[in-house]
Amino acid sequence: MQGKRFCRLLVLALFAMWTGSMTAQVEVPVPQNVYARQSLSLNGDWNYFVDMQEQGYYDYRMNPTKWGYFLNAKPKRPSDLVEYDFDASPTMHVPGDWNTQDEQLFFYEGTVWLKRDFEIVNRESSKRYLLYFGAVNYEAIVFVNGKLAGQHVGGFTPFCFDVTDLVQEGNNFVIVKVDNKRHQESVPTRIFDWWNYGGITRDVLLLSMDETYIDDYSLQLDKVLKGKKRTLNFSLTLNQPQAGQEVILSIPELKIRQKFTTDAEGKIAHGWLSVADSKLTLWSPENPKLYNVEISRGDECIRDEIGFRTIETRGRQLLLNGKPIFLRGVCAHEETAYTSRRCNSAEDADTLLSWARQLGCNFLRLAHYPHNEHAVREAERQGFLLWSEIPVYWTISWKNTKTYANAERQLCDMIRRDHNRAAVIIWSLANETPHSDARDRFLSRLAATARQQDSTRLISMAMEVTGASNYVNRLSDNMNEYVDVVSFNQYIGWYRNVNDAAKMKWEIPYEKPVIISEFGGGAKAGLHGDKGQRWTEEFQENLYRENLAMLDKIEGLAGTCPWVLKDFRSPRRPLPGIQDWFNRKGLFSDQGHRKRAFYVLREWYEGKK
Ligand code: GCU
Repeated sequence: MQGKRFCRLLVLALFAMWTGSMTAQVEVPVPQNVYARQSLSLNGDWNYFVDMQEQGYYDYRMNPTKWGYFLNAKPKRPSDLVEYDFDASPTMHVPGDWNTQDEQLFFYEGTVWLKRDFEIVNRESSKRYLLYFGAVNYEAIVFVNGKLAGQHVGGFTPFCFDVTDLVQEGNNFVIVKVDNKRHQESVPTRIFDWWNYGGITRDVLLLSMDETYIDDYSLQLDKVLKGKKRTLNFSLTLNQPQAGQEVILSIPELKIRQKFTTDAEGKIAHGWLSVADSKLTLWSPENPKLYNVEISRGDECIRDEIGFRTIETRGRQLLLNGKPIFLRGVCAHEETAYTSRRCNSAEDADTLLSWARQLGCNFLRLAHYPHNEHAVREAERQGFLLWSEIPVYWTISWKNTKTYANAERQLCDMIRRDHNRAAVIIWSLANETPHSDARDRFLSRLAATARQQDSTRLISMAMEVTGASNYVNRLSDNMNEYVDVVSFNQYIGWYRNVNDAAKMKWEIPYEKPVIISEFGGGAKAGLHGDKGQRWTEEFQENLYRENLAMLDKIEGLAGTCPWVLKDFRSPRRPLPGIQDWFNRKGLFSDQGHRKRAFYVLREWYEGKK
């Protein structure tokens, strides 16, 4: 964890530098397992209003203003001029996107200001107060009681600011300027095939922490079986260097209770515990066993549920707990069933997971960005293996150092939040990126960072078929040497070669497991007709039948995750009467209708069990 914390603080500092003026307060790493910490939820109804010209932040010369909306000003005398009033403005629910809560904002991309009052009772002077956001899409500038707490870009990873010096006993208010405008140099970049939901899309918590607290910890099963013994590797970091701190790790069900002591850095770098193999139930889709774990230090006690499993490759095989496994997967966006808004709870996830289960899946590709923590933990409880990805999607600004810092930050944050989740087996660095030296440099650096951050999981990315002639499809990608699993998207039957799947041959010259990370085609639920008629369920059904027969011929295929579990909103899909702003490649419609292709895939997966 040595290099990790330095890397994190460096990235954080670089980031703060880059985001212009140094923030008045400190952005701190998000403590591991925030839901196990003492906190005040700031979820609920927040007042909001739109600010298309950002006049609440910039003056008419476009310089940041001191008199912005973040002051939450109120007229004191009758003659005072104040041209906004949060408390008289409508409210929306946080967590939540504004697009599906206010019809006028369905297509809106720009700035929205949100405010929430909160009360601190018995403010403790010995405590640090951290303001945590699960995610805000895309740029967040955060103020507490009129003062700048910090700023963050990236719509799918958590962040938090130390606001100890800003909060007070009694009434407080937090104001967030959220802007979801798309930019070439952002991550994702200007174009992407999903709805650009804006807002404070995940939980907001005010954490109250001791001056010194457990910042991060990791507890993982070692791959190596030593005789009849297994090893659990344990490491931990305090938020500040304090030697000699006693930490007790206990796993009651395994009768484990072990003391560790922090070093001068406030770390337990290479702790380990031994447990009889016969006593340990390994986490798997068939038996998603989670152990209650307690990590305590003085009065501080963190409870977590952790599963133990190993994931590795051997040639073209994928091994879970040492045994070959076939990934029966499906891709899914973080969008609710029926209501098509951003997901932000275990309940939202549960509906989607139940659809994946109906398909016979044991694996989900969480596309194309880290999904919320509730969804990851719910999938883990239900026994789904997960692929988690950062939105390095299509043509990113490869040569832009800020873009790289942004992508690397998102990667580190994704790994930091979920590195104790047994369900997560693959970190994906990118999707459908065009070949170039700059791209290769960018992605190979991300791969190195991912390995440095977590050496226990597999690395991959969704590549593209590079050459197809005379029905021979070749995969040739320099990134093959940086990944553990070779994955690629192919759309035979939809974007090309309709009805040619049976003739296709594949050249994948890498001795690594292969995952088809996307294939599929669109269908309007309930539209029926000839299998040659696009948009009919019969067309999609036939496409699946042909593609699955083709996949059966691919040597070393270790799994697949078709595109996509359910129809999802996209600004790139305007076709009236068919798409109506939905990508219709779902196996389920957005209303849960099973399309004919559903049954084809379910039957195929039945044969893969
Ligand atoms: C791409 C991409 C998806 C997109 C899909 C489609 O491969 O990765 O994000 O939605 O194709 O075109 O439907």
